Amino acid sequence: MYQSFFVSLLSSSLIISSVVFSATSLAGNIAAATQPEPYCQWQVDNYAIEKPLCGLVGDPERGKLIVSDGSKGNCLACHRLPIDGIAAYGTIGPPLAGVGTRLTEGFIRLRVVDTRNISPMSIMPGFYRDPSLINRPRKDYKGKTFLTAQQVEDVIAYLVTLK
Ligand code: HEC
Repeated sequence: MYQSFFVSLLSSSLIISSVVFSATSLAGNIAAATQPEPYCQWQVDNYAIEKPLCGLVGDPERGKLIVSDGSKGNCLACHRLPIDGIAAYGTIGPPLAGVGTRLTEGFIRLRVVDTRNISPMSIMPGFYRDPSLINRPRKDYKGKTFLTAQQVEDVIAYLVTLK
């Protein structure tokens, strides 16, 4: 009897401490996400950025969410993407189905990072241009890139799967 009382006391305190722990680590993550992250320089060789930004590894599942999120990549505003259930998309840019076969990863990275390196008059936004070079940025974008380095790598990891 006593024993089972202590066991249940122990397990409930374990639950409480794990809830407290996950709440504090969640708060830590949120605080980290709102910190401006350091900008990583990139290098163009022969119309490509071969090295992943900041040496990060992208996740194709996250990338798929970013390309179809109007508040992040908003790629759908201009490109058709082979994602089920999406009826509305722009056609000002080429459809991105099969882009992983047509283009190399390094070329896709440069397209997404700073497309004007390839087509100087492009209307596609540069999603990871050096913020210190941007003339009169919108107030809320000061010192920031449109996508984070991790988001760019996630988008690229997704695009290279489009074969
Ligand atoms: C405002 C419109 C616009 C938005 C938003 C946009 N693009 Fe583009 N994109 C273009 C245009 C136009 C081109 C054609 C080449 C050029 O003009 O630079 C292009 C070209 C590309 C290419 C090369 C395709 C090929 O077949 O050569 C890739 C890859 C690409 N975009 C990816 C993206 C991704 C990923 C996003 C979202 C993160 C995005 N674009 C957002 C307009 C846009």
